[in-house]
Amino acid sequence: MNAVLTESPRSVRYAQVVRISKKSEWQIDRDLLQDRQFDFTRNFLPAGLSWVDTIPFLSKADARLLSQVQGRTYAYIFGLVERFISAKMLDQGRAHALDDQHAMEALVRFTNDELKHQELFRRVEQMIADQMPLGYRQTANPSDVARAVLAASTWAVLALTCHIELFVQSHYVESIVTTADLCPLFKDVFMYHWKDESQHVVLDELEWKDEHRRLSPEQRDQAVDDLIALVGAVDGILQAQSAADTEYFVRIASREFSAAEIADIQRVVLGAYRWQYIITGVRHPHFGKLLASMTTPAQMQRIQSALAPIVANA
Ligand SMILES: [Fe+2]
Ligand SMILES: [Fe+2]
Repeated sequence: MNAVLTESPRSVRYAQVVRISKKSEWQIDRDLLQDRQFDFTRNFLPAGLSWVDTIPFLSKADARLLSQVQGRTYAYIFGLVERFISAKMLDQGRAHALDDQHAMEALVRFTNDELKHQELFRRVEQMIADQMPLGYRQTANPSDVARAVLAASTWAVLALTCHIELFVQSHYVESIVTTADLCPLFKDVFMYHWKDESQHVVLDELEWKDEHRRLSPEQRDQAVDDLIALVGAVDGILQAQSAADTEYFVRIASREFSAAEIADIQRVVLGAYRWQYIITGVRHPHFGKLLASMTTPAQMQRIQSALAPIVANA
């Protein structure tokens, strides 16, 4: 303990994360799945995230089905983003290999967690797929997305990662844990995920701030443009996936819908996805604080203008 106290406050924070991570370690089968199945008589995603209750012409069963399609996409999208997050954290950990050993250990554990999460979400998606009609489509390939994301500056990738891991907190605390009638296994998947992500955000913040200190004003300005481009790319994925999910839902729902009704469903699903994967992160108070502390007012204005159309149509 004394040895830890003589280290820098920064190193102590990494060491704390390692300690908590070791204490709260869990396994997919032993602790979480335990041979259970998803309960298709219940909602998967809560209405606060799926917005299915804002479509007045859906029967209760069809609203539940749409929450299940969105729940399946939730697993798919997390599996997808964790491909680039784990690759990035491997690089960040490597950069500490010959200095702060607590930092390196924390980031190696972080990488390992995300590999576990990718396996979890692949299996969850497959378990859901086994119980649903054929025809569901994933519109983006995780490795292609990761290659494109990782070409952006480290500052921007860390900002996007921090944003994602903070909205996981909001989703779980504000919507998933507080909704009583959700499928219990679906709820548990996101409880276990949330446990790890609570530690990851501490590391995102340390790494992001560190990177910020390293950059010149010009590099920071370029990094803001990169972040804007990354959010635009995320929105592109959401537009394609919401269209694919609407098409799939309309095909498997209990009745036929008019063209106007289909357009309504599509609008709500895109709005819900923008809410889930962009807006809940941007509106997270801690993310707002961090972003404001690492941008100039003019850069912040540029980010807000880029976000305006996404927020307005949600
Ligand atoms: Fe994760
Ligand atoms: Fe994470």
